[in-house]
Amino acid sequence: MPEANYELSDFIQAMRTVTAETDEVAKIIGRLKPLAQKLVKNPALKKEEYRVCGEEQGFGVNLLHEEEDHTLAVFVISWLPGRGTPAHDHGTWALVTGIEGNECNIWWRREDDGSNPEFADITKVGELIAKPGECVALQPREIHAVYNPGDEISLSLHVYGRHINHTNRYQFDPETKRAEKLIVKVNP
Ligand SMILES: [Fe+2]
Repeated sequence: MPEANYELSDFIQAMRTVTAETDEVAKIIGRLKPLAQKLVKNPALKKEEYRVCGEEQGFGVNLLHEEEDHTLAVFVISWLPGRGTPAHDHGTWALVTGIEGNECNIWWRREDDGSNPEFADITKVGELIAKPGECVALQPREIHAVYNPGDEISLSLHVYGRHINHTNRYQFDPETKRAEKLIVKVNP
């Protein structure tokens, strides 16, 4: 089917099929990645209302879909210029695909054993600018930070195994070495 006609409902159906067939993160990501790349070409993902970013948070989180048990969550997230997130994990697999603008991803490696929930020693290990149509995939405990290096609001499609406010996940401060639970504000 023409790529512009690939709809959110097609993607949701594909997520259900793939996750019913395997629970291996690499396989799920591998199969969903080309479909997410098709979905971001649909102009419906660029709605004006998705560009509303809270000044305090620095980004706007728009929930497009989740199952009743909070699994298979799909968001469009918008990012104010120069703003982003602290280092964080997701507590579930993540597949992020650029829609509009560039987004800088910084990867961190955890050096401690994670046994103290309030402590994390993390080291920066890499950086990548994701352009529209490019994907970043993360395992549940992989740590990254994201920011918008551009002068305009950027948009990206975020797909998670579970809604990120319903996982046990953390933000990390590399200076103080503090780990804290991370909950994001979702647009109404
Ligand atoms: Fe993230």
